[in-house]
Amino acid sequence: MREEHIIVSRDGAVLEIRFNRPDKKNAITNAMYGAMADAVAEAQRDDGVRAVLFTASGDFFSAGNDIKDFAAQSTGAFEGPRHVTRFLEEVIQAEKPIVAAVQGHAVGVGTTMLFQCDLVYVAEHARLTVPFIDLGVVPENASSLTMVERLGHARAFALFGLGEPLTGNDAAAWGLANAALPAAEVEPRARVAAQTLASKPPQSMRLTKRLMRDREALLARMREEGEIFAERLKSPEAMQAFSAFLQRR
Ligand code: COA
Repeated sequence: MREEHIIVSRDGAVLEIRFNRPDKKNAITNAMYGAMADAVAEAQRDDGVRAVLFTASGDFFSAGNDIKDFAAQSTGAFEGPRHVTRFLEEVIQAEKPIVAAVQGHAVGVGTTMLFQCDLVYVAEHARLTVPFIDLGVVPENASSLTMVERLGHARAFALFGLGEPLTGNDAAAWGLANAALPAAEVEPRARVAAQTLASKPPQSMRLTKRLMRDREALLARMREEGEIFAERLKSPEAMQAFSAFLQRR
């Protein structure tokens, strides 16, 4: 599916997926998830693609799931397939390496998707947050597993429980990001890394990535979280949080 807020392009053997909804801080709608799921799936099928690069326009990497969509899902007003699950599954199952250029702040899935990427370059000033509890929901995208594994329980719980941000510098120091850089250097550095990955023997790259990640465990946790998340979307705590955001002005 095509969607104006996601720009998919090719640079040699690198497929780039760009968040392009800067006026809404790159909040991700259902249609955007659909376009990204299609792009990641196509990257796996196309032998000419050897690496995937996520980038973003504007000052935010992504403000996470669109809260209007959450609100519609919580009241049952939302119709049609939810593409978010397909997107998360495509990324978890991707065989080709994924690089992220995080030039600004990230919220929710904008943060948790980074733990599913293979290389992450982040702006030093970026603040990465996961306010699932404040929103009355629970962690998604297997982040209750990946964040605890990568950061340790104490740090992960401060992010989930206290709502503390992970700064770009800490993301690099604590093993989420490969480097924290001045914002203007993030995308160029990620591009070079993606091109380097794309120049390597593709089968060896694919097999190495497979050995390094327990896809079954990630998928199982993502689905377990997803069931609880779907119930929580309809909870009074969540409905209150969504309407507070939508009515804040
Ligand atoms: N869903 C829908 N719209 C969003 C959004 C989201 N997740 N995040 C930002 N926007 C919209 C705002 O409603 C605003 O729209 P408007 O100009 O039509 O009023 C626009 O993007 C700019 O956001 P604004 O809040 O004015 O910018 P800010 O710099 O003051 O704050 C955020 C940015 C991201 C901190 C704040 O918008 C926010 O907290 N968003 C919600 C993040 C969130 O909880 N995401 C879900 C994670 S699971």
